[in-house]
Amino acid sequence: MSDTALTKYSMHIDGEWVGAADGRTFDSDNPFTGRPWSTIPRAGAEDVDRAVMAAHRAFTSGQWPAMTATARGALLRRLGDLLSDHADHLASIEVRDNGKLIAEMAGQCRYLPEWYHYFGGLADKIEGAVIPIDKPGNFTFTRHEPLGVVAAIIPWNSPLLLTAWKLAPALAAGNTVVIKPSEFTSASLLEFMKVFEQAGFPRGVVNVVTGFGAEAGEALVTHPKVAKVAFTGSDRTGAAIYSSAARDIKRVSLELGGKSPNIVFADANIENAVRGAISGIFAATGQTCIAGSRLLVQRGIHDEFVDRLVAMAKTARMGDPMDHETQVGPVTNPPQFEKVLGYLDVGREDGAEVVLGGSRASRPECGDGWFVEPTIFTGVRNDMRIAQEEVFGPVLSVIPFDDEEEAVAIGNDVVFGLAAGVWTENMRTALSMSERLRAGTVWVNTYRAVSFMAPFGGYKRSGIGRESGKEAIMEYLQTKCVWISTASEVPNPFVMR
Ligand code: NAI
Ligand code: MG
Repeated sequence: MSDTALTKYSMHIDGEWVGAADGRTFDSDNPFTGRPWSTIPRAGAEDVDRAVMAAHRAFTSGQWPAMTATARGALLRRLGDLLSDHADHLASIEVRDNGKLIAEMAGQCRYLPEWYHYFGGLADKIEGAVIPIDKPGNFTFTRHEPLGVVAAIIPWNSPLLLTAWKLAPALAAGNTVVIKPSEFTSASLLEFMKVFEQAGFPRGVVNVVTGFGAEAGEALVTHPKVAKVAFTGSDRTGAAIYSSAARDIKRVSLELGGKSPNIVFADANIENAVRGAISGIFAATGQTCIAGSRLLVQRGIHDEFVDRLVAMAKTARMGDPMDHETQVGPVTNPPQFEKVLGYLDVGREDGAEVVLGGSRASRPECGDGWFVEPTIFTGVRNDMRIAQEEVFGPVLSVIPFDDEEEAVAIGNDVVFGLAAGVWTENMRTALSMSERLRAGTVWVNTYRAVSFMAPFGGYKRSGIGRESGKEAIMEYLQTKCVWISTASEVPNPFVMR
């Protein structure tokens, strides 16, 4: 298919497919060709207001607030089934717009329905409590109620998955939602809405506005009718959203990336650890919040481990992300491409040694795409910028350590705390490390595993709140306590009881 005929997309507001009120659009690029392939509406404040007011109407009137939790759950499960039917199509759109590998996206899109099934099942299992209240003559109980309009701000690295992590619990809890995808990858969410439409939700329950962060994004998070912002993205934007939410006392949940240590002890199964280190940093071209971007290797095996790592990383096939054989795809967008290349210079200038890659990939199979060679730096000190800052690309920093104490100290010596990996055959080391690492997820002898039923989120600067698992739904609920007096007489009003 030629990329010259641009596919034209509309947004989805109040159950209708619309353009921006002022008719503006922007192009979205295909990272493999480096050329635009679609046009997307560029929403401004007026469009965002229409979407939020539609969501607000859907929250306060009509079918949605009258629906039982069981009925909401059934809609979510139907949505999950429909997504299964369209998994391959959604995957191919994401490959085109984002440059993600078809091999990864096919699996991700087939797994996606699980979030809608799980939270659909959870919808009618949220129960309040009867409090055995200390004041006689009272019946006191709690109810968990939805918040209102939820704004979901989505980054470009895994749009459909990171939307599911927010949308499924938000809807299960009875909220309504306005989603703003990243300006780099809006198409998959607009295709998702074509599927969503068939599930039978009342109009306005879910709306998608497309556009830029400083326009549509800011208008959305500052809208007075938005009760909560659920955000995944950079810590800088997360901090800006957090402080703007503070002005209106809005709830937030934030998932803000990391600089996760992947720690290999000398007693590890080396073959497995090499695979884990590679998938930790080169899967998804390193563009994941959980990237194991700091590889800590115990000194005794350091040189041998690096040799084996380089040997395996060298075999990575780069090229067309639509090809099932491709193992490392392009970087998703030009600013990110420049950022990653910039860090290659930073690493060298700070004195780290490049043992693999270190440049833009100019292999013929990479064409005009935004490819960076899988890169491994050794001789990295943990205070170097490439060890402290999130690169979000296929760039690994290898740091030696002597013993568990030092591994813990280096591992925790970053502002982030999203995830950590530990490779050891020693059970005591595994348990001790999993306790001492300050991260929301610790993987032992595995890396990158996530599940709809496993809580996920950050310690420290990696964020606030948890996604997936039972507790995620509480991020979208608030607790009301109801007191009903059973006394026949209201007592003396001047005495506090
Ligand atoms: P970003 O955090 O600026 O963008 C994420 C989303 O927030 C996008 O939808 C964007 O339009 C929106 N946004 C931006 N400014 C906003 C504002 N003022 N108000 C409301 N919404 C706003 O991330 P960006 O620029 O796409 O990537 C920059 C860096 O962020 C990457 O290099 C990477 O280090 C990190 N990142 C982390 C991710 C994670 O999963 N934690 C995902 C994507 C990027
Ligand atoms: Mg794109």
